[in-house]
Amino acid sequence: MLNKNTLKLIKKYSSKPVLYEKGTDMMWVDPYIQKHLLEAHLNPNHDAASRKPEKIDQIIDWILEDKQKISLKYLDLGCGPGLYTSRMARLGHAVTGLDFSNNSINYAKNDAKENQLKIDYIVGDYLETEFKKDQDLISLIYCDFGVLSQSEQQIILKKIYNSLSVNGVFVMDAYNLDYVKEANEKSSYEIEDSGFWRPHPYLALNQAFHYQNEKVTLEQHIVIDHEIKIYRFYNHYYSNDEMVALLKSVGFKNVIFNNDIVSNQFATIYKAFK
Ligand SMILES: C[S@@+](CC[C@H](N)C(=O)[O-])C[C@H]1O[C@@H](n2cnc3c(N)ncnc32)[C@H](O)[C@@H]1O
Repeated sequence: MLNKNTLKLIKKYSSKPVLYEKGTDMMWVDPYIQKHLLEAHLNPNHDAASRKPEKIDQIIDWILEDKQKISLKYLDLGCGPGLYTSRMARLGHAVTGLDFSNNSINYAKNDAKENQLKIDYIVGDYLETEFKKDQDLISLIYCDFGVLSQSEQQIILKKIYNSLSVNGVFVMDAYNLDYVKEANEKSSYEIEDSGFWRPHPYLALNQAFHYQNEKVTLEQHIVIDHEIKIYRFYNHYYSNDEMVALLKSVGFKNVIFNNDIVSNQFATIYKAFK
């Protein structure tokens, strides 16, 4: 039986939050959830946390289409278990991967060691960690940019711009206007003995909200066991014109994009040239 306080909290948290109000906890750095996430990253059969291997190869081909033979200084933000960094190191580039998930970085480090790849992996929050300077290529891949609030977006874009070399390139992806087809407000719940969120019994209240004027969706999971934790994932979706204008507003001279590579996920990939 839920007590009064718990009910009050659930009521409070299940109403639509003020846009960009944070949850209580971050899924990516939870020691238990990280294990499931790593499995999801490495599963080649679905696109849940990282894209399928053939898609990643296609994205790298697109990133490098005009640069095949040059050895680049490359920084991957939110590199996860190193699916892009390891491919780039194999191609001879000087690679750094940054992620705040210890579990993913440990996997990436071991993988690099086993495969004799020289990759510098750093555990850190990309909003706070200082980036290496003079990078030829910086990437932020799997629609992670749209998760950030507008002030965080400005912080990271400026950091990226300032860390790129003279002709440096920033590659990122974001949900596009087709994503709105997926943006229905809905709610559901799950009761599990053990599952994605916890190794023991829990109740999860799942909600999807849409902030139409701001073009932002929110996926919220309230996970209840002996305590209540709230996980929130905002996703800003953009028209191509809006994203090009945003990238140019921090100084990028030219931006090109590809609507086809990940069209199945209603996303567009951008290349911004300094
Ligand atoms: C959706 S996954 C994508 C991973 C990788 N880019 C890929 O496509 O395979 C997002 C990754 O970003 C990391 N991440 C999220 N926010 C971060 C932050 N503020 N600082 C560093 N890493 C972050 C997560 O730990 C996770 O590994």
